[in-house]
Amino acid sequence: MYEAYLVDWEDFGPEVVNEVRKYLERTPRSREIYESVSEYIPLGVNSNQRYYAPYPIYFKEARASRIWDVDNNEYIDFNMGYGTLITGHAHPRLVTAWEKQISKGILYTYPFELLEELGELITEIFDIDMFRFSNSGSEAIMYACRLARAYTGRDIIIKIEGSYHGTYDYVLVSSWPTRGLAGPRRMPVSVLDSLGLPEDTEDLVRVVPYNDIDPLVELLEEEGDEIAGLVVEPVMMNAGIIYPEPGYLRKLRDLTKEYDIVLIFDEVKTGMRAYPGTASQMFGVDPDLITLAKAIGGGATVSIIGGDEEIMSLIAPSEAPRYQGVIHAGTYNANPFSLVSVYVTLTEILTKDQYPRLIKLNEEIKKAYQEAFDKYGVEAYVELFGVSGAIMYSKEKIRNFRQVLNSKLELWYPLYFNMVNKGVIPNATGPEEMWTLSVQHTEEDVETYIEYIDEAVRLMAAADKYMSEE
Ligand SMILES: Cc1ncc(COP(=O)(O)O)c(C=O)c1O
Repeated sequence: MYEAYLVDWEDFGPEVVNEVRKYLERTPRSREIYESVSEYIPLGVNSNQRYYAPYPIYFKEARASRIWDVDNNEYIDFNMGYGTLITGHAHPRLVTAWEKQISKGILYTYPFELLEELGELITEIFDIDMFRFSNSGSEAIMYACRLARAYTGRDIIIKIEGSYHGTYDYVLVSSWPTRGLAGPRRMPVSVLDSLGLPEDTEDLVRVVPYNDIDPLVELLEEEGDEIAGLVVEPVMMNAGIIYPEPGYLRKLRDLTKEYDIVLIFDEVKTGMRAYPGTASQMFGVDPDLITLAKAIGGGATVSIIGGDEEIMSLIAPSEAPRYQGVIHAGTYNANPFSLVSVYVTLTEILTKDQYPRLIKLNEEIKKAYQEAFDKYGVEAYVELFGVSGAIMYSKEKIRNFRQVLNSKLELWYPLYFNMVNKGVIPNATGPEEMWTLSVQHTEEDVETYIEYIDEAVRLMAAADKYMSEE
């Protein structure tokens, strides 16, 4: 069994096999748990993204910038919950607030008094008229799409190729389509990401490339009056990090206005990432709806769907009795535990003054990577957004998903295993993912990360050479 775990890595060459061997040696208890729980839990994990070969590490405790696995290995965590934990793990202010709240109950299913303060706070920080709380980014997107359909009386959603918006059926399309299925670059085919999606999904979701306005114009000329909403991450953060080209978001705004389409900015990752606010505010483009999750709650399960009063108030039209508007409901919505987390995170932890230090440290990580890429001739660069960063496995600047697909994504594996074996989790799991600095990362934590970059990139170069010679 042990040797079988190594087979997948032989194509990467002996140095990577050696790193995976070390990984197996350092994590015997994780392997044991994986082998036992995967009998009951598919892949041994509860979110598909958490699985990777040979098996994921199982953790038991986290504090500040550190996380400990079941074999008592300590790691400096730069994954930080896929960018959720800009607060760091178990921030002392959150722990105090949680302890206080836990003894008063964490679920009422009645409206909670803190809503009064949060109402003003949220609308002001994120510059929206109205909002509702939900529990996850996926839920928020689902409601944004429902609201868009209700508002326009149309059914079709447009999304961007290579953007992930969570697990709602009608956005689970072309999040990461394979080359063979994706169709022409300018007019991508809608590729279903999952088995089990309704047959009509292909017809109800259209896909366009990022940073390219002409294909969208053509699509709207044909079907503009059937489109309910356009969903887009203002900065793509699920295929590495890809910035909008100057004027792109503005053109999306103008076109959606022209065709009366609801413009939805998915700010689940971009929200609170570069300062206390959204990418919409940063780029000066005002969408009709936004979705927020991740960083707003310091790790609590919470999301927000918010935007223009005209659309949001469809949830409760004044002329309709209780439930005849757009349905938004949920047992766990706006529970006291989540709301306390949001309040403390936004008012006491992720304040404006916290960002400059982290952004500066992030620049240092970028510089170290770039020096190592140059030294070992690895065709890659780093893109930063706020307190997060990602490696783009290409020499040329990447502007859309097709270019990501053509890049050397497999080079993430040597980097990951090498760093993890030394006690640094360099980024979230997967080559498309990013790292995140939290307010609890110290200068020393970042120095350690930087210190390990040279050897990890040397290993990337060795694997690259081995693979190209095979
Ligand atoms: C941009 C974006 N939207 C939506 C989601 C879904 O959020 P959740 O995992 O909380 O359902 C994610 C998750 O990573 C995301 O990155």
